[in-house]
Amino acid sequence: MNETIIREQMCDVCHKMWQLGWVAANDGNVSARLSDGSFLATPTGISKSFITPEKIVKINAKGEVIEAIDGHKPSSEIKMHLRCYEERPDVSAVVHAHPPTATGYAVANKALDGYTMIEAVIAVGSVPVTPYGTPSTYEVPEAITPYLKEHDVMLLQNHGALTVGADIITAYYRMETLELWAKISLTAHLLGGEKEISRGNIDRLCGMREQYGVTGKHPGYKKYPYGNE
Ligand code: 13P
Repeated sequence: MNETIIREQMCDVCHKMWQLGWVAANDGNVSARLSDGSFLATPTGISKSFITPEKIVKINAKGEVIEAIDGHKPSSEIKMHLRCYEERPDVSAVVHAHPPTATGYAVANKALDGYTMIEAVIAVGSVPVTPYGTPSTYEVPEAITPYLKEHDVMLLQNHGALTVGADIITAYYRMETLELWAKISLTAHLLGGEKEISRGNIDRLCGMREQYGVTGKHPGYKKYPYGNE
């Protein structure tokens, strides 16, 4: 996929996240890995509603600016993004946002670890809450590193959510799935509590990842006889 399309997709995702109320003011950031080993990142301190393709900053693997207009600098969370790429060669896009229901779970320090809804079981698996880290510092990449091995979707304690994927749209869809699942889980909680899917049916759902073309990691796939990865 060429750089122009990736920049446009990053803008689309930024605008959608703002319209959906997942980011306020300058919250959230999006990045992508390019085929030449460089990266694109949203600029720090700009509302995701105002991002245009030329405002996106090009950086190297150390986070140093290669190309930027008007002195724009990469997101202050770039260390977190770069760690995702370092740890996961299969990842070429990272999305960070504060979708309110999923972030409610992050603030309550409650993992979304029930296997309760079929789409979430197939696409995501359990979602952990990673330990607290001060934004923009190495505390955040350190906190997420152990979880990156098995998870494409994480809650950042007292902060928000992080998704990774092979491309921008995949990472963004994971954020959508997370937020919808969080809303459904909260509703089920109000209605008396979630009911887990049976072990046998969880296995069958995990085995359907290949059929649905689901890429990435699943925290439970190794345990499943039908695991596809
Ligand atoms: P940036 O504007 O630096 O990307 O920061 C936004 C944010 O959400 C910090 O966690």
